[in-house]
Formats: sequence, C-alpha cells, structure tokens
Amino acid sequence: MVAWRNYLLDHYAEQLAEIERAIAADDGVVGRYHRIFKDVDEDLFFYIASRTCELPVSMAELVPDWPPEAVRRQSTADTPLMISMLEALTFWNAVKRNSLKILRREIAELRVADYGAGWGRIARLSCRDVPEDQFLAFEPNPGFVEYYRSCRLPGRIIQTDWGSSSPLTCCDAFDVVYCFSILTHASDALTRRIKDRWIELTKPGSLVFATIRPQFFLAGGEGDAGYLSDTPLSEIMLQYHRGELVFRRYADGSGDWGVTVMSPEYASRVFGEEFSVIRYGPIPTTANQMIMILQRK
Ligand SMILES: C[S@@+](CC[C@H](N)C(=O)[O-])C[C@H]1O[C@@H](n2cnc3c(N)ncnc32)[C@H](O)[C@@H]1O
Repeated sequence: MVAWRNYLLDHYAEQLAEIERAIAADDGVVGRYHRIFKDVDEDLFFYIASRTCELPVSMAELVPDWPPEAVRRQSTADTPLMISMLEALTFWNAVKRNSLKILRREIAELRVADYGAGWGRIARLSCRDVPEDQFLAFEPNPGFVEYYRSCRLPGRIIQTDWGSSSPLTCCDAFDVVYCFSILTHASDALTRRIKDRWIELTKPGSLVFATIRPQFFLAGGEGDAGYLSDTPLSEIMLQYHRGELVFRRYADGSGDWGVTVMSPEYASRVFGEEFSVIRYGPIPTTANQMIMILQRK
C-alpha cells in the first residue's frame, strides 16, 4: 500500500502542487471545494476524495473526513469503505451522464438534491461538479446530519422528518434529485410519501435517479435477500408481477424500513401519474441495485 501511495504522489506531483497553489490563492470559504476541484483530473480527484494517499495539509483540510465506523455502519453496514466509494462513483457518473443526455445541460448548471444523504459518500463526489449554492442534501437521521455538518462535507444539509409529513419550505425546485439505497428499503406507504417529497422538490422536466433492486435479487440476492425466505419464490414472483411491492420489514427496524423489491409494473402504477419512467439501468459496481430514472411530467 505504501508503494502505491508513493507512486500516486509521484505520478501526480505536478497536479498536486498546482492544487496546493490554487488553495493558497483562494481566500473564499463558501464554494471552495467546487472551485478548487472542478477541473482536477477525474481519477486524481477520486484518489483525493477517497483519501487513498496521504494528502498535503492544505488539501486534507478541504477534503471531508471519514465518519466514525459506528456512523458509517448505520448506512452502509460492513461494506468496505473503498467499495462504498466505488458504488458512489459509478452511480454519480451515471447521474451526470444521463442528466446531460436527457436535459442537454451540464451538471454544473443544474440544481441538484441528494435525498437521503446518509454519511455523504455521494455528496463528496457530486459537490466537486455542482456549485455549493446549487446543491442541497436531505437526511432524516440526526446522527448523519451532525456528522455531515461537522466533517467538512460540502454543501448544505437539511434534516427532514422520516414521515415526510410537513411540507418543505427550504428551497426552489431542483433539476436533478438523486436517491441511492432508499427505495430499496421503503414500505409501500413510505415509498408514496417519498414520491410526495419528490413532487415538492421538482418541476416539470426535472429528473429523479433512484436505485431499486433488480428482479434477480428475488432469487439470487445476497445479504438482505434472506428476509424473503419466509415465502416460496413462486408466490413472491406472482406478487412482483402483479405490481405489488415486495417488502419485508427488518426485525429491528421501524415499520416502514426493511428490504424492498419494486417491479416496473409497481413503478408505473405508483409514479406514472406524475413522472415518466424513462430508463432502468444497472450499476456496474453493485449487483444488488439498479437505477430507475423518472422525469417529472
Ligand atoms: C442505506 S442508507 C443510504 C444513504 C446514502 N444515500 C448512500 O447511498 O450512502 C439509507 C438512508 O436513507 C435515509 N432515510 C430513511 N428514510 C428516509 C426518508 N423517508 N426520506 C429520506 N431519507 C430517508 C436513512 O436515514 C439513511 O441515511
């Protein structure tokens, strides 16, 4: 590992020195993360954001710390840090690519929301591309909100209520809302409340990128899939194709949180009035989640 780190520092020495000069010359506080990193080579930025090599002090002060393991485990369980970051990277790249393709506007021009930000693994990537005043994170868990605010994560975070019951009064509509690993856990009632939030947060044409579980998870998924073993697969498949949400609450969770598999039929029925379901696509770094793109009508 040390040899690898030294290799990175050597290989990128010139660019690292340039970033340090840019940090020294930048005396603003708000929006610094985006200003400093927006033009940095994508691979180098990923090494910096995931603290793969020991960073020069000025840079280390700008890059968010990792959360304590206890905080991290509440969201990404025992997934190793680097795997979590690679999932976040491939997801964020898909959000960027498809936003450009569908909206024909660069992500840096758009207002972007992270809905259910957790410990901010995606925010630390997206805020390189999106100016701070165009970005907002939402999260109901006070522990994550506190970590987000204290660990130099860029952008602002707002604490939402778990039930999404009171209207949001925070902000203008967003062009892009992304939501990783939330519909994969939500009950039917919570999914509908989340949809109501997205209606509040979007305007006609806006995109929502949300992860759901692929159909094969029903038969061959790992980890959480064990929760489905209480019912014969044939019965679960019927339920899935009838357009019902396949949901089992976690033993220790609140009523609305567990393991969820959503079919295209369910997605059209529940989201179809307000959103067009325009694409389902896999995420190369995780077989347990895929991306559903919704466009507000
Ligand atoms: C598995 S974590 C994923 C966090 C983050 N999106 C990521 O991928 O790292 C699920 C997150 O959803 C949040 N959450 C739970 N219910 C929610 C709701 N009704 N609205 C928004 N977020 C919710 C949890 O607090 C937690 O941060």
